[in-house]
Amino acid sequence: MASEQQLEALAIDVAREAGELARRRRAEGVAIAATKSSVADIVTEADREVEALIRARLRAERPGDGFLGEESDAAQGTSDLTWVVDPIDGTVNYAYGIPAYGVSIAVVRGEPRPGRWEALAGAVSSPATGEMFHAARGAGAWLDGTRLSVNDTPSPAGALLATGFGYDPATHAGDLARVARVMPMARDLRRIGAASLDLAYVAAGRFDGYFERGLAPWDHAAGALLVAEAGGRFTRVDMPDDPRRALFVASGPAIFDGLLAAALGP
Ligand code: IPD
Repeated sequence: MASEQQLEALAIDVAREAGELARRRRAEGVAIAATKSSVADIVTEADREVEALIRARLRAERPGDGFLGEESDAAQGTSDLTWVVDPIDGTVNYAYGIPAYGVSIAVVRGEPRPGRWEALAGAVSSPATGEMFHAARGAGAWLDGTRLSVNDTPSPAGALLATGFGYDPATHAGDLARVARVMPMARDLRRIGAASLDLAYVAAGRFDGYFERGLAPWDHAAGALLVAEAGGRFTRVDMPDDPRRALFVASGPAIFDGLLAAALGP
């Protein structure tokens, strides 16, 4: 059985190669291949090509492991490990040429379902900035060679928070009501458009906290481990009005309970 650090090294290596391919394809121009859950939810040729590269590299190195990716069919493995992959998180940014997109690769143990799995290692690369965020269970979260820790000193000006919105227009009113509830504790709010980077930035202390409903497993698998290994808290709460759209909250310990209460609402 590979150690967490060996799995982390593989995640970093594959995320770096995948990020280079994504950046190269972006420079050549991006073609939208299809829409998915709604007209706003797009997939580019590059998403598919980058996922195929990640999948082939992981299959070659770890043939017994399962795979759960955004753009291709899930595969169960013979080991109890599964790689959870978003080849390009922030696809809309990518398509518009906004340099805020990530390659997110995590390896989890157990049933490959959020809330059931145990994340062992992960990497989130930001190809446009050249940054690589990575973590292994029990061994900290890192940005390149620097160990990360969440920002846990509340500011009198309030917290710098981040959020995201679902692709389904029917969910926007609820998302905006949540923003209104959370704003009294915020100094300001960011919506950078890539959940994996939002979580990496919480781990790095660039954001004080993050909340969003409806993330897919590949959006948060690596980022949640980064936050936990940087000393932060992350939770996923099933919501009674729509069980397919859980609420996700991440922050340093000091503001976590308040942020969760505001995000949940009455
Ligand atoms: C999306 C981004 C976005 C978040 C959405 C995700 P995708 O992932 O992370 O920031 O608000 O919930 O679906 O579709 O670009 O891989």
